[in-house]
Amino acid sequence: MQVPQHHIFVCITQRPPTAGASCGHAGSRLLMDKLQLLLLEHELTQRVRINGSTCLGPCEVGVNLVVYPDGVFYQRVTEADLGEIVEQHLLRGQPVERLRLRDTAARSAIG
Ligand code: FES
Repeated sequence: MQVPQHHIFVCITQRPPTAGASCGHAGSRLLMDKLQLLLLEHELTQRVRINGSTCLGPCEVGVNLVVYPDGVFYQRVTEADLGEIVEQHLLRGQPVERLRLRDTAARSAIG
């Protein structure tokens, strides 16, 4: 087994809508499946691992995911953004700036 170069944690926390925003409610499990398919298409499954995670903090701007070891948090990720994350960040090493977590309050929620 090859040691992965990147780990991606996708928040899959699912709360009832009455309990506030959550990435699961915003479709993060489906997003994680789509991301896995993209990794297969790009033959990246040995280099990149995807894991579901509990709450990453900034629930109101989900779907949230984080790419390690780079420590890059992405917010409001949709299916339309996944190709850019794979091709620009994972293949070329350049984070997708327009998706990076920007909100100061949200950043303080994750420390
Ligand atoms: S529910 Fe996803 S960051 Fe909190």
